[in-house]
Amino acid sequence: MIFTVTFNPAIDYVMQVGEIEFGKTNRSRSEEIFFGGKGINVSAVLSVLGENTTALGFIAGFTGDALEKAVAEMGVKADFIRIKKGNTRINVKLKGAEETEINAVGPHIEKDELNRLFEKLESLKSGDTLVLAGSIPTSLPSDIYEHIAKLIQKKGVRLVVDATGELLLNVLEYHPFLIKPNKQELEEVAKMELKTEKDIILAATDLKNMGAENVLVSLGADGAILLDTDGKIYKQSAFKVKAVNTVGAGDSMLAGFLAGVENGFDYALKLGAAAGAATAALSGLATREKIEEILSQE
Ligand SMILES: Nc1ncnc2c1ncn2[C@@H]1O[C@H](COP(=O)(O)OP(=O)(O)OP(=O)(O)O)[C@@H](O)[C@H]1O
Ligand SMILES: [Mg+2]
Repeated sequence: MIFTVTFNPAIDYVMQVGEIEFGKTNRSRSEEIFFGGKGINVSAVLSVLGENTTALGFIAGFTGDALEKAVAEMGVKADFIRIKKGNTRINVKLKGAEETEINAVGPHIEKDELNRLFEKLESLKSGDTLVLAGSIPTSLPSDIYEHIAKLIQKKGVRLVVDATGELLLNVLEYHPFLIKPNKQELEEVAKMELKTEKDIILAATDLKNMGAENVLVSLGADGAILLDTDGKIYKQSAFKVKAVNTVGAGDSMLAGFLAGVENGFDYALKLGAAAGAATAALSGLATREKIEEILSQE
């Protein structure tokens, strides 16, 4: 079973606004609502690929009810912890000539509520995979990923981390099976611009030397590079699609990779790239049909 954790899920409220005038009443042309968060995105794409997955995380209030319902309607199995106070956040995205985003802080997770997550994680078994994706809310201790890594390492659970900066670096000593920085995130931890493929491989090697088993670097429309435990390098070019909305392409790639990993890294990379491209080509997340269509284009 592949478990994902989404500490701070969100409802994205996307408004097409044209010009925005601050300090005035503006009107939108249309609105769309998307439910998610990085862990939920990974579980959603795993589900369309027929993988057994459970989305863990925290929800609150009426927006939490709506999110839970939407996740169930997506066909994703979830086991959310209900926070007593507050509401699951709504992030506002204003799409005009430019794109303006206001991401909300989200509800405060109390200690006893956090402990309930640890109780659930206690039930994970050897052979399970746990995906920690995205940032953590400010209400949580900053070493939460390390705590989780330590707990599950003892159980022989595969850890997958898609995070940035210190959050990523601090978890490396627990030997995550896979990390998936994109180029910008890799540059951030390498503290330098990565101009060539060699630069990227060297920076990925540093993360491997710090403890990561396999390092998957996603490069958007330039594809992806995987450095495996033995230092072997795998390259995957991106599938050609007309990009509509690339948000969540990385989460989808992670899901595709994990869905394919039992069939070897070459296949995993290909399925990951197809899932990433499918999400880039659609306004929402990858569907099974789109992934199959992209794979059949070859
Ligand atoms: N425009 C695109 N065309 C084709 N494939 C794409 C495109 N954008 C992304 N992909 C595929 O998806 C993978 C992941 O994309 P990307 O590197 O943008 O992830 P990311 O920056 O982590 O995204 P996010 O964090 O928003 O989910 C890429 O390696 C590539 O295979
Ligand atoms: Mg990403």
